[in-house]
Order: sequence, then structure tokens, then C-alpha cells
Amino acid sequence: MRVSEAVTKRRSTRAFLPTQVDPNLLKRLVAKAGRTASGGNLQPWHVHLLTGDGMARFREAMAPRRATGQADTPEYPVYPQPLAEPYRTRRFAVGEAMYAKLDIPREDKAKRLEWFARNWDFFGAPAALFLFVDRQMGAAQWTDLGAYLNTVMLLLVEEGLASCPQEAWSVQHETVSRFCDVAPNLMLFAGLAIGYADPDADVNELVTERADAQEWMTHHA
Ligand SMILES: Cc1cc2nc3c(=O)[nH]c(=O)nc-3n(C[C@H](O)[C@H](O)[C@H](O)COP(=O)(O)O)c2cc1C
Repeated sequence: MRVSEAVTKRRSTRAFLPTQVDPNLLKRLVAKAGRTASGGNLQPWHVHLLTGDGMARFREAMAPRRATGQADTPEYPVYPQPLAEPYRTRRFAVGEAMYAKLDIPREDKAKRLEWFARNWDFFGAPAALFLFVDRQMGAAQWTDLGAYLNTVMLLLVEEGLASCPQEAWSVQHETVSRFCDVAPNLMLFAGLAIGYADPDADVNELVTERADAQEWMTHHA
């Protein structure tokens, strides 16, 4: 597969087949993505991969939280408050587009919340990873994390797999960090749901829009 094809094909997938993913393949991809560039070659990513029984144990650990809907205060601001334009409109648009695919109207807040809570089940994915960062790292190293995540997502596409990056885990960082047994200096950045996309799920039909490149690209010729 060409890189361009993987870039075009990748999309956030929110419904998965129950088919298990070969854990050795995932270990190889997570390791391969370590070739991602990072400032000063710091490689500031710390990855916990969950498959098979590990995933089942994590789901068990999350069960009480999912039952009560309890959430932690995020350890980092997921979005600036308030979110200015044009970002606010873009965020709104993708939410509306997703709920339109799911046929959940704006008025049905309960159903929207119920759907959003599927984040904390990895949307049913059979595998996942959590990405942590050392608390001493700053904005520059957080960009390296994003680059790492993108490499993993593209390598997954190459293997016919799908994924959904999830900052939603930031409000479950206590359970995640306890389960992963990470040192206190590590902070959870995001999760990544991994599996084979359910081809029949309406939500997976969502192809998100992008601003015209002219809006954010300046070419000095
Ligand atoms: C770092 C990061 C965190 C994200 N967190 C979530 C999340 O918690 N839940 C979710 O459903 N989507 C999440 N997304 C997916 C975005 O909504 C999605 O990437 C965006 O709408 C563009 O759509 P696409 O990935 O299908 O191209 C996240 C994406 C990124 C890059």
C-alpha cells in the first residue's frame, strides 16, 4: 500500500467486529511506529498495548466506572476554553455529522451521552493502546506523541485494521493509570481503539470534512 492510500483510507472508526487481532502483529506495529521522528530523538511516548485477556481484565476494571458514569477531572485541557473560531465550528460540525449517521437528534441528549460513553468501552474494539507522556514534557514533546499516534494509525490501515484515537480517556485517567500500573511521573494522553471495522455500522460511514488548504496554508513562492 502506498502511504497516500493509507492517509486517505484512515478514518476514526467507532464500531468494530469482535474478530481478535493477532497480538504479535500489534506488538510489531507499535514497535515499528517507534521510527516516528521526535525532537531531539527524545521518543517521549510510553505505550501500553491491550489485547485478549489483558483487554478483558481492563474491561472488568472499568466496569464500575461505566456503570456509574463517574469521571475524573482531566489532567490536561483537552480543548482551550473557550474554543474560538474557526475551531469551534469545526468541532460542532463533526459532532453533528456523527450523530446524523447515528440518527440521534440534538434534543436526545440522553442518547447522545449514552453513545459518547461507548468511548469507555473502546467502541467494542478487541484491542487498544494507551499512550502516556512524562509529566516533565512540554508542548513540543506532545506533538511527538501525535506524530507517533498517526504512524500507528497508518500502519494499522496497511494491515487492514482500523482505529479510533481517544482523548475521552483523559477523564478516566485514574482507572487507566492504576490498571497499567504506570509510575506517577507518567500522564495519560490518549487511548487508541484497535480492531477490524464493522462494515455494516452506519457510524463508520462518516467521512469527516476538512477545511480547504487555502484556509491554513500559506505558500511563499
Ligand atoms: C488526539 C485525538 C483524540 C481524539 N479523541 C477522540 C475521542 O475521545 N472520541 C472520539 O470518538 N474521537 C476522537 N478523536 C477522533 C476525531 O474526532 C477525528 O480524528 C476527527 O473528527 C477527524 O475524523 P477522522 O479521524 O475520521 O479523519 C480524536 C482524534 C485525535 C487525533
